[in-house]
Amino acid sequence: MDIIETENKHTSGLYTKQPIIFVRGQGALLWDTDGNEYIDCAAGHGVANLGHAHPKVAAAIAEQSTQLVTLFETFYNDKRAALMDKITTLVPGLDKVFFCNSGTEAVEAALKFARVSTGRTNIIAAMRGFHGRTLGALSATYNKKYKEAFEPLVPGFSHVAYNNIAALEGAVTDQVAAVILEAVQGEGGVYPADPAYLQAARRICTDQGTLLIIDEIQAGLGRTGKMFAFQHSGITPDIVCIAKSLAGGLPMGAVLFGDSVKNLAPGLHGSTFGGNPLACAAAVAALTAIQEEDLPGQAAAKGAYLMEELKSIESPLIREVRGLGLMVGIELKQKVAPYLQALQDRHIIALNAGLTTLRLLPPLVITREQLDRVVAALTEVLK
Ligand SMILES: Cc1ncc(COP(=O)(O)O)c(C=O)c1O
Repeated sequence: MDIIETENKHTSGLYTKQPIIFVRGQGALLWDTDGNEYIDCAAGHGVANLGHAHPKVAAAIAEQSTQLVTLFETFYNDKRAALMDKITTLVPGLDKVFFCNSGTEAVEAALKFARVSTGRTNIIAAMRGFHGRTLGALSATYNKKYKEAFEPLVPGFSHVAYNNIAALEGAVTDQVAAVILEAVQGEGGVYPADPAYLQAARRICTDQGTLLIIDEIQAGLGRTGKMFAFQHSGITPDIVCIAKSLAGGLPMGAVLFGDSVKNLAPGLHGSTFGGNPLACAAAVAALTAIQEEDLPGQAAAKGAYLMEELKSIESPLIREVRGLGLMVGIELKQKVAPYLQALQDRHIIALNAGLTTLRLLPPLVITREQLDRVVAALTEVLK
């Protein structure tokens, strides 16, 4: 079987394909069918915070797959209880959790919870924000390119400038169910929130009886140097959306919330696969490893090092280097696509964030030596 030919023949057409066949990963490295080694600074769009083939996650998945893979939340389960116990310690005050299977589903649930809890319909989101591709989450997403083909979307959504306190203050009235924000905007170009902005968002939402939803799907679980990126601001949201690296690479999403979310009754929302024992076992192993290996601390230290190295690259092409921890954007003065290709030719896989920002989301276990190789390749490509 010719793998590329087969995928090209049957693919939905929704993805721009790169002609590399990856078959194995370990830590921050990937290997193709010819045994060529690549450094993975995309990490499956920020999924592989723990790196590829983490032994403890692999062992948990293997073990649980021999016990029980599927079980609806109607019945109790040891692994689900263990995960509930663990995940609800991450944000003091948020001691309830809904499990689903992806980021967009976590956002979808959060939006529904906010509407039913407040009895209001309006949602405020941010310009440049990205929250997923199902119709509710897509309505909260800003970029027209993801939305136009699917309109009309869900009514009641509006967007305000990010990091602009006055704009938020003007938009949030007592008719607004929720404000949804990323603590670091990822797809929109890697823009961290000012701590003062999130603190103001917290105050404004509390004043209006509006729920504050923070989307930590990309920035969460250690990537920015803290377990959650909003923790750089010292706030407590009403609802936190988590996905990507939660189950160490298995599909899983979660919505954390506390007493400010009301009126959730049996049957109002749900998910067939949500909270299945396999994903829960993987997530317990992943969260334990994130804590035991101090991945937030590793991301803070390595991110600071990487940022310093990147800022010292002298290149007329670079407009700005920004980010938090190991969530890094290099904004260029021109389109980023040829530079991503040039990096790929040097066996570094990276991402874009919009047309002109090159994004690095490496596994948090990436080594200094691997980071140095990334910086050397970037220096060469951007010279
Ligand atoms: C901030 C944010 N929210 C939501 C999503 C959607 O997640 P998923 O692709 O798992 O549906 C993403 C995906 O990139 C994201 O970065």
